[in-house]
Amino acid sequence: MLTVENLRVVYHDVISVLNDVSLDVKAGEILIIIGANGAGKTTLLRTVSGMIDFYDGDIIEGDIKMEGVSIRGLDATDIMKRYGVTYVMEDRPIFWYLTIEENLKAASFSRWNKQIKTDMEKIYDYFPVLRPQQNKKAGYASGGEQQMLAIGMALMTRPKMLLLDEPSLGLAPLVTEELFDIIRQLNRSGITIVLVEQNAHAALNIGIRGYVFETGRIVLDGTAQEILENEDVKEFYLGSGERESKSYKDAKRYKRRKRWL
Ligand SMILES: Nc1ncnc2c1ncn2[C@@H]1O[C@H](COP(=O)(O)OP(=O)(O)OP(=O)(O)O)[C@@H](O)[C@H]1O
Ligand SMILES: [Mg+2]
Repeated sequence: MLTVENLRVVYHDVISVLNDVSLDVKAGEILIIIGANGAGKTTLLRTVSGMIDFYDGDIIEGDIKMEGVSIRGLDATDIMKRYGVTYVMEDRPIFWYLTIEENLKAASFSRWNKQIKTDMEKIYDYFPVLRPQQNKKAGYASGGEQQMLAIGMALMTRPKMLLLDEPSLGLAPLVTEELFDIIRQLNRSGITIVLVEQNAHAALNIGIRGYVFETGRIVLDGTAQEILENEDVKEFYLGSGERESKSYKDAKRYKRRKRWL
């Protein structure tokens, strides 16, 4: 559905952030992207969604294609309207001083048809906790509710592909579980999902395939299961590696640790 080919992205003409990144997203899947802070995950989503310009970033090399057609250089609204790719940014972009319902309405700016009420009802079905709060100011909602609202706003654009940037950030484990359950339901309803997450274990459990990013490059890809079972990933992302062992392998581990952190 989406292919990224040998992508190189820099900020302010000099800060090189993505280097030779190639990946693909298959229609209907949940693709997981994990990687340390600063690895370039958000930059990838900004680039794919056509928003990199707003951050003084540029594509220096490579291409991005939807169904084989290049979308490099299209602006974010075009990418959303023509290709149904909607990006939910990592800092929960909602209008604090508008009510939850007004936020959903505002997010339907790109719509030409008038079935806004019907779609809002669907969103309240996905996120029942929002329904009784529709007239409450979004700024007063909890972190989890704000994240649900941000995803609800993205759904108002009727996306084919949702790019989710760390939706579980700062959420309690139970709320994260609930949110991931909803992401799975959205996927079952036909929306392809690209999920960037620090919460690697939970994400890989709902994912189908994944990529691991490290300083602007992909260092590992595979099925979600393969990534979950990878020793480096276990040690540095899942916290379940054999940390205490004292053997010559420790030297190797140390190198690995330096490489991954
Ligand atoms: N607008 C910008 N201008 C200059 N440098 C930037 C800009 N945005 C991001 N960077 C830098 O690019 C690198 C990658 O950042 P990015 O936000 O893509 O990483 P990330 O993997 O999403 O990290 P995190 O897990 O912390 O969200 C970082 O070194 C960051 O400081
Ligand atoms: Mg990020």
